[in-house]
Order: sequence, then structure tokens, then C-alpha cells
Amino acid sequence: MALLDILVYPDPRLRNKALPVQEVDSAIGGLVDDMAQTMYSAPGIGLAATQVNLNKRIVVIDTSEHQDQLQVFINPVLTGMGEQIETEEGCLSVPGVIVPVKRHSEVQVSALGKDGKPFELHATGLLAICIQHEVDHLDGKVFVDYLSQLKRDRIRKQLLREGRNSGKAPDQRKESVPAI
Ligand code: NI
Repeated sequence: MALLDILVYPDPRLRNKALPVQEVDSAIGGLVDDMAQTMYSAPGIGLAATQVNLNKRIVVIDTSEHQDQLQVFINPVLTGMGEQIETEEGCLSVPGVIVPVKRHSEVQVSALGKDGKPFELHATGLLAICIQHEVDHLDGKVFVDYLSQLKRDRIRKQLLREGRNSGKAPDQRKESVPAI
């Protein structure tokens, strides 16, 4: 397994639209393992392949209390359901920034697992938020896109400044909202 570099906003590669995985083989399994290790180490509770510059529709999520229940979504397809709710989100690609975002409170997901088998899942709560955030990443969308141009510019400038000063992203552990 290997730790992968997480792209930081406004890196233009975060705008890539990921392509469907054609076959879930051992190479894809290896990428899933690397993504999981990268997510746990960040630490975060979700990571999309786009964030580590892999142009494939793969998402890893672990919203469990003890971070011991990895969920893998390959080629996920979402249907949003339920009411729109606003929660605060953090993102591994936008370090140190917490943003209120409106999402569906529930989603129906169909995807392939790490074993290549299709499955369906009805998700609520944090998992539902997380899946919507990660599928946005696969479509080249970052959560700051939901903000006004003014706020987005401020965040972009702040991250460019921090990137130049330190050469590395701030420690996510300082944040109270888990990063996805
Ligand atoms: Ni994110």
C-alpha cells in the first residue's frame, strides 16, 4: 500500500471528470487500498479518486466511530431523496475550511464493491452527505462551488497563500468537522 498525494483546491485537476471503471481487477483493488490508507492517514472519512489525481469513478468512505468499517463505491450512481438539509462540511482538498452545504438527507446508491459485485444501498445521515460530496468530486465539483463567488475567491487566495508559505496543507486534526 502507498500513501497518495491529495490535490488541494484550486488545483485544476480537481475539475477532471472521472471515467467509469471498466473492470474491477487486482490493479483497481490496489488503488482502493492506497486510497483507503490515504484517507485514514489524512485523517478523513471519505476520499474520491479525483482528489488523488486518479481519473476513475472510485470512492472510499468510513463514517464509523472507530474508523474500522471501510465502504467502497466503484461507479456509484446516486438518486437523491428526502428533504434538503444544510450541514457543515470539511474537505481534504480544501484544508482548514468548513462550509455549510445543502444536500439531500437520504440517497439511494447503486455501485460495485471492491469484489466487483453490484450492490444497492439506502443511506441517511452523515453517510448520505458523504456520498453526495464524493460523487461531486468524481464529477469535477468541489463543495466551495456552492458558495458565492466572493467567498470562493477568498478561500482560493487563502489556500494559495498557505500553499506557498508551508508547502504542505494544514493538519486536518485541528478541525472539529471531519474532512471528506
Ligand atoms: Ni472533499
